[in-house]
Amino acid sequence: MPGLEKVTQAVCDKSAPLDNKDVVDLGSGSGQVTLKLAPGARSVIAVDFSADMLRILAERAAEQGLDNVSTQLSTLQALRLPENSLDLVVSNYALHHLRHPEKVELLGRCAHWLRPGGRIVVGDMMFGLTGDAQGRQIIAGKVRAIAKRGPAGWWRIAKNAWKMIVARQECPEPIDSWESMLADAGFIMVESGRVVAEAAFVAGLLPES
Ligand SMILES: C[S@@+](CC[C@H](N)C(=O)[O-])C[C@H]1O[C@@H](n2cnc3c(N)ncnc32)[C@H](O)[C@@H]1O
Repeated sequence: MPGLEKVTQAVCDKSAPLDNKDVVDLGSGSGQVTLKLAPGARSVIAVDFSADMLRILAERAAEQGLDNVSTQLSTLQALRLPENSLDLVVSNYALHHLRHPEKVELLGRCAHWLRPGGRIVVGDMMFGLTGDAQGRQIIAGKVRAIAKRGPAGWWRIAKNAWKMIVARQECPEPIDSWESMLADAGFIMVESGRVVAEAAFVAGLLPES
């Protein structure tokens, strides 16, 4: 998925400089971001609720000789870390799994985990599901592309429509909503940028004092 790679790269670029920072990667999966950041960081905690993903990540970290990577099996909703213990929170393509109030709550906790001057960088699907023009355009484009795959594609559309419209397991939000959530959680110098049609990054800093 070239789009995903571009977003992953943007998240890593926006996380620099790492100079011995303590980092947490929320929804780390098998380590696409964790393993890129770990060589420059002091420590990286990779958090995911999938034991399989974390097992693969730990194996890859060991293969690469990265002894500063640890894994934590947890949902993001239940995750608790010590206050003032981190310099950087990153998350890539994971937080759209959380509903709006869960994102707000998590961002509030992130602000407590970070030391003064700490940074947060989030890359994710960022568009509205509430009918704004850009959201409609992105969803229509995705549906057209998937439909071209024939019956397998039609099945995927039905499944995703069920997930997005009925079960609401995927809750992307537009960039301006992300900017407001970061600002409301106490982050300053909030910046954002669209990376590919459906995905973007937002980043912010905690004040020094
Ligand atoms: C699309 S993958 C992205 C993985 C990785 N961050 C990357 O950049 O490729 C989303 C990851 O989030 C994890 N995830 C989804 N919802 C979660 C939750 N509520 N708590 C913890 N992990 C979650 C999934 O297990 C999955 O590994």
